[in-house]
Amino acid sequence: MHTSHVLTNTASHATDIHGAGHSDPQTSHGGAGKPRADLPGPPAPALAYGMSYAHLLFDVADRVATVTVNRPDKLNALNDAVIGELDRAADEVRARADVAGVIVTGAGTKAFVAGADIAEMRTQGPFEAKARALRGQAAFRKFETCPKPIVAAVNGFALGGGCELAMACHLRIASDAAKFGQPEVKLGITPGFGGTQRLPRLVGKGRALELILTGRMVGAAEALQIGLVNRVVPAADLMAEAGKLLRGIIAMGPLAVALSLEAVDRGLEMSLEEGLQLEANHFGLAAASTDMREGMTAFLEKRDARFSGS
Ligand code: COA
Repeated sequence: MHTSHVLTNTASHATDIHGAGHSDPQTSHGGAGKPRADLPGPPAPALAYGMSYAHLLFDVADRVATVTVNRPDKLNALNDAVIGELDRAADEVRARADVAGVIVTGAGTKAFVAGADIAEMRTQGPFEAKARALRGQAAFRKFETCPKPIVAAVNGFALGGGCELAMACHLRIASDAAKFGQPEVKLGITPGFGGTQRLPRLVGKGRALELILTGRMVGAAEALQIGLVNRVVPAADLMAEAGKLLRGIIAMGPLAVALSLEAVDRGLEMSLEEGLQLEANHFGLAAASTDMREGMTAFLEKRDARFSGS
């Protein structure tokens, strides 16, 4: 199954070139996996599928949504409109029953995302800037807390908001040409879409402060060495490798994946005792699932599991 709405302009121009027509969230299961209304987290918002995006490409194939930031002439810089669309895309991937996992990438060969849009920020005042940071943080947090696995395929510059977007994804695969950095101090601003918080959580305080205070860019090899990315692959293989990684994850029990994502995300903000309690609760919850019986039965019967997400 393949659906696509590579769109331009406004909602009235929504195009589903394969005619999948996602107008009814309740019936749009696409035959590609069961509905997953019982996943942890808040209920999926009622959305009209096939939403249009002016600055994103949003394609669905074989239960994987590929969300591509599409402003290559500006190295995919995140203006307010893109942030708004990323926020909506996060809602859409969460709500769609035909989406089991997500790849986030950037259009063109040069950049993943070269940061927040400097032209737009140049005249911002303090209240406007704070509101902009909060909007970006909220959109990225939707990716981070999505119960479906999200892989960033970093194809080039991931600077400022680009590095922050990649860090809000669950896993990061980088092309060998990718470059990462938080260069905000060079512009007289601080990171505003989560960089000061997620970078130290990923690479440690000392390394994070070095990158944030100097604005130094690091190449893919160094990003791998410090733990900023999970894997580095040749540029030509990036999307295939991201797809392979993601498909491996969505073949697992989807409830177990969602519970694991939530346990790690929430547990990092807790004491060890509280985190262990959360883990035990999730372990117990997983034992209520059909997926657990199927997974263990399949192992003992020496066959592949057929998970239903229930
Ligand atoms: N915001 C707005 N526009 C941006 C941008 C950003 N963050 N990053 C790149 N662009 C635009 C450039 O202004 C240029 O537009 P133009 O052709 O209309 O002049 C276009 O994208 C191409 O960028 P350019 O700088 O010419 O490419 P380059 O190969 O010489 O340099 C970079 C690439 C990534 C090193 C450079 O673009 C850069 O430093 N970008 C800003 C990175 C940054 O500070 N990000 C954090 C923002 S908070």
